[in-house]
Amino acid sequence: MGAPIDQFNRALRDLRISVTDRCNFRCPYCMPAEVFGPGHAFLRDPQLMKLEEIIRIVAAFQSLGVEKIRLTGGEPLLRPDVPDLIRALKQSRAVPDVALTTNGWMLEKMTPALRASGLDRLNVSVDSLNDATAGRLNGLGFKVGRVLRGIDAAAAAGLPIKINCVVQRGVNDHELLELCEYFRDRGHPLRFIEFMDVGNTNHWTAARVLPASEIVERIAARWPLEPIGPAYRGEVAARYRYRDGRGEIGLISSVTEPFCRDCHRARLSADGKLYTCLFASLGWDVLGALRAGASDPELAAFLGRIWRGRMDRYSDERAEVIAAGEARAKVEMSYIGG
Ligand code: GTP
Ligand code: 5AD
Ligand code: SF4
Ligand code: SF4
Repeated sequence: MGAPIDQFNRALRDLRISVTDRCNFRCPYCMPAEVFGPGHAFLRDPQLMKLEEIIRIVAAFQSLGVEKIRLTGGEPLLRPDVPDLIRALKQSRAVPDVALTTNGWMLEKMTPALRASGLDRLNVSVDSLNDATAGRLNGLGFKVGRVLRGIDAAAAAGLPIKINCVVQRGVNDHELLELCEYFRDRGHPLRFIEFMDVGNTNHWTAARVLPASEIVERIAARWPLEPIGPAYRGEVAARYRYRDGRGEIGLISSVTEPFCRDCHRARLSADGKLYTCLFASLGWDVLGALRAGASDPELAAFLGRIWRGRMDRYSDERAEVIAAGEARAKVEMSYIGG
């Protein structure tokens, strides 16, 4: 079968799998409560990929060269079989790198099971260390202390952790230094993510994007920084280390410095549709093909064809799309995974 290369010469390396479109938070930049309220039609259980179905789809991706898998949501830890899934990915499928992105709310309780499952690493979202701001940013007034305890528990259990912080001008950008101080003391790389125009409901405006360059300037004025190379080819975050040797930060600048040219990521929604871009409108029904009886080689051939035809580079095109006033119906991030 051979590793597929897309129309812009990009290989397929990472697979991000959303295991549920539900979340116990309502971050306004992702799942605004007024949209994702009681009336919202979440996926029903029979629509979700079952564990064995995920494993079969993963096997097909592995035959095309995928070696890195990230589980996302919504909130992946809402799904009780996630530790079993990780164990199967590590043991039956021998995936070298299995990571999970979580909001941390259930992390303290889940740490032993995650540790035992063989999970390689965790990314946890922390947008603020102050309860008032954190409560606004999780949409439900939840206090951040429980997330921080989850991070401590996972770190004590030996799981490598990175922290994700979505930065919005005028919302949490006055707290950058405080966040840096807290996480450098604890040795967790902290990545600042520019507020992105994912989905159609998060009230994105360019005015609320704090450019990565400005984030670096503000932090470097307090603790001098120096750029360091990527940890691996196509890494999304641009990394900087503190010159005093006390850790590193990362910048994920999808808006001001897009990284589409190196994008090796495929995304699978919780109902088994393959999306070749975070900003795509349509997905390919991989689970449908599997349930209709596709064999393993047929599944792999289907995925390979999709990847070979891929032309996505939304972040590179964003400015033109917006300037042209083009209305694109994009999938929601909670459905497709971050
Ligand atoms: P590692 O470097 O493997 O730890 O993973 P990661 O940085 O890809 O994972 P994570 O899920 O923590 O992603 C951090 C942020 O980067 C999220 O907000 C993602 O949506 C964003 N991101 C990841 N991949 C892409 C991408 O392909 N395009 C865009 N625009 N954003 C991405
Ligand atoms: N812009 C930037 N990052 C976002 N995330 C969710 N919505 C957005 C957005 N609109 C982040 C989450 C999490 C990661 C997977 O994606 O906070 O850290
Ligand atoms: Fe949930 Fe993460 Fe979206 Fe927040 S950003 S609503 S925690 S999926
Ligand atoms: Fe990849 Fe699409 Fe993100 Fe560009 S915008 S890096 S193509 S997911």
